Amino acid sequence: MSNETRSYPDLHEHLAALAERGLLQTIDRPIDKDSELHPLVRWQFVGGLDEPERKAFLFNNITNAQGRRYTIPVVVGALAANRAIYSTGMGAPVDEIQAKWDRAIANPIAPRLVDAAVCQEVVIEGAALLGEGNGLDMLPIPISTPGFDSAPTLTATNVITRDPESGVQNMGTYRAALKAPDRLVVRMATRVGGAGGYQHYQKHQARGERYMPCAIVLGCPPLVAFLGPQKLPVGVDELEVAGGLAGGPINVVRARTVDLLVPAESEVVIEGFIDTELLEPEAPFGESHGHVALEEFNMPMRVTAITHRKNPIIPSYLSQVAPSESSVIKRVAYEPLFLAHLKSTLGIRGVKRVSLHEPLTGLLRVTVITCEKGMPRTEIWRALNGAAFFKGDCGKICIAVNEDIDPDNADAIFWAMAYRMNPVEDVRTLEHRGQGHGPKRELDQEEDSTLLMDATMKGAMPPLALPKREYMEKAKGIWEELGLPRLRPQPPWFGYSLGDWLPQWDAAAQRAVEGRYLENGRISEAQQRGGIRPETKFRPE
Ligand SMILES: Cc1cc2nc3c(=O)[nH]c(=O)nc-3n(C[C@H](O)[C@H](O)[C@H](O)COP(=O)(O)O)c2cc1C
Repeated sequence: MSNETRSYPDLHEHLAALAERGLLQTIDRPIDKDSELHPLVRWQFVGGLDEPERKAFLFNNITNAQGRRYTIPVVVGALAANRAIYSTGMGAPVDEIQAKWDRAIANPIAPRLVDAAVCQEVVIEGAALLGEGNGLDMLPIPISTPGFDSAPTLTATNVITRDPESGVQNMGTYRAALKAPDRLVVRMATRVGGAGGYQHYQKHQARGERYMPCAIVLGCPPLVAFLGPQKLPVGVDELEVAGGLAGGPINVVRARTVDLLVPAESEVVIEGFIDTELLEPEAPFGESHGHVALEEFNMPMRVTAITHRKNPIIPSYLSQVAPSESSVIKRVAYEPLFLAHLKSTLGIRGVKRVSLHEPLTGLLRVTVITCEKGMPRTEIWRALNGAAFFKGDCGKICIAVNEDIDPDNADAIFWAMAYRMNPVEDVRTLEHRGQGHGPKRELDQEEDSTLLMDATMKGAMPPLALPKREYMEKAKGIWEELGLPRLRPQPPWFGYSLGDWLPQWDAAAQRAVEGRYLENGRISEAQQRGGIRPETKFRPE
């Protein structure tokens, strides 16, 4: 299918775009998919590289411990190893991604049904799905957390199910562990705010329908893939929002053995039926909350067909401890939802940004809300409460800060908490929060709770005591002229007014740097007074 009939790139075209931008690392040496592949890419996230240095890794020569060679390549990080990669897939500069999401959600476009599709160029059914080396077992699915995971696991999935009542499809990114050439176990989160597909499962159960049709799609066109992890309201068809992102309909084709529509230009489609009666142990698996999910009963799926392009590439997401590809892909998708909720749905005008804290905490726990200076306290608290309760599994700790605090700099947040927050007045804890996505849930522990903090300035404060910007910039020029080590300015790197500062003090500081401090001495001498104690404040007229 050519580009004329669609307004969005497929995975192959996306990888070519990444290569052109220097964002694709190709690995041709043999790599063991189970013990080497994910650890190699993991070094990007734990090896002290800056975010812009991360790349997508395309593995062309995949093996396993048994010496098997796989013909299908695997790509990790292709959708979101960093924001530049996500922005390439989005077809929008990083600072326009938020607006693109907003527009797509407001203007969904229904998919277009096509008769023939590249994702069905090769069809594997029946006996061809059975036996070692066949079916799922021929796919080079990597192990994500070697040493802990019990199975090669599909991670970069778009799992499609249909609401048996409304007929609306859902598409979510859920992991699925390989169990046999024709069987895998899918894990859909059952918590509040969890998987949309689980609600379909429950409806099938309630209707006495033992088998739920399911299609696990690997390697969707990026604009479709991005919808998998997105937290849209239940009942919204993600493929329509993907059409909104693409600015035209997403081509879909009827799956071969289940009554579902799948994205036509995807790489691989695994079709089958989820058993709504029996469950099967799945995991351990390294989870996106940064701990290993322990074994639990999840949904077995019997595979009825695997279809794929002639030359498929299989994507795999790097997840587990954040930052990771999983946290980048979710962060860029979720933050716009939070901001739109606070600004548009709740009508809180002073909110400038919502940041989901990423390293180690993994987005769902700590939310930083950037508030305009002078925002009424009541509005700050509405924003804190609104962010805490927007989604059932997000916003356990919410912190309001002003615009000069970099929400990605934990030191700056501590700074705001240390100097701008009075714990007795500015901190609240609230009871009754679900455990959300995290290791405690694994142990069935009791309820969690919520912590809200207003770390905004409550009034004018004296300036930040660093040289003013102009002096720091001039000194940076000298630094560079001297050939000293490369600087990476860390905000705040210059002093600025926090509201309590007078023009007279500016004038005195100007005289001082001009070498005229003696003039300042003459001015202050004229203000000498008696009858007061030291440290009595003085404000020039
Ligand atoms: C790499 C990755 C793996 C994920 N694994 C799961 C999973 O196994 N089960 C699950 O319910 N959600 C998982 N999620 C989160 C869901 O994709 C996310 O909650 C999404 O909103 C689900 O879509 P839905 O609302 O249509 O169900 C994962 C997300 C990513 C990025």
